[in-house]
Amino acid sequence: MTRLLHIDASPRGERSHSRKLTKEFVEAWKQAHPTDIVISRDVGRNPVPHVDEPWIAAAFTPPSKRTQHMWTAIQMSDQLIDEFLAADIYVIGIPMYNFSVPSGFKAYIDQIVRVGRTFVFEPEDKDAPYKGLVHSKKMFIITARGASGYGSGGSFEAYNHQDPYLKTVFGFLGISDITFIHAENDEFGGERLAESIAEARAKITELIAI
Ligand SMILES: Cc1cc2nc3c(=O)[nH]c(=O)nc-3n(C[C@H](O)[C@H](O)[C@H](O)COP(=O)(O)O)c2cc1C
Repeated sequence: MTRLLHIDASPRGERSHSRKLTKEFVEAWKQAHPTDIVISRDVGRNPVPHVDEPWIAAAFTPPSKRTQHMWTAIQMSDQLIDEFLAADIYVIGIPMYNFSVPSGFKAYIDQIVRVGRTFVFEPEDKDAPYKGLVHSKKMFIITARGASGYGSGGSFEAYNHQDPYLKTVFGFLGISDITFIHAENDEFGGERLAESIAEARAKITELIAI
């Protein structure tokens, strides 16, 4: 059975555009695929911990050599990775914060990008020492931004460390089928914001109809 993992990264509730749009995406998805299982995780309002020294020591110790204390230090990471790997499809709502992702989402990334679980390191393979372990997945990322012009040729293209970063980090894990939907101009409000949200909604409808 297909599993959709729905993640929100905005600390805002009702006022969050990314959250509103992932919700609409999930509702439309359920209508189109009523037997799919949807799992939700909210790292915006229920942040996951940052990695710390016990986490690092445990993650980089081979499983056969880990102490009970080490297993405990990465227990949450294991749970998040199990949930991540069990999904076939992802829809993730991510605000742009200071040209990249909010720290809560970065903390989630740091928990799920783990050697031996979501990628492997094979130093003897000089051409490709790192290999992603997450394959045959489909990802939809809905961003929300205060401004616009972050796309190719746009006046803020060089400031965009959000979608290039997300493509890199999920690509590193093996996920290459990523579709972005952008809701922009929150800071301008009015028609500019309304137009961008309408475009994002139309894209969601179009993508789900495929
Ligand atoms: C701490 C912070 C940093 C932000 N940095 C940027 C930024 O670099 N570029 C931008 O276009 N908007 C920026 N914004 C605006 C948000 O991206 C915008 O309000 C977006 O709608 C937030 O997502 P949400 O509506 O899902 O909460 C920032 C907002 C906050 C609170």
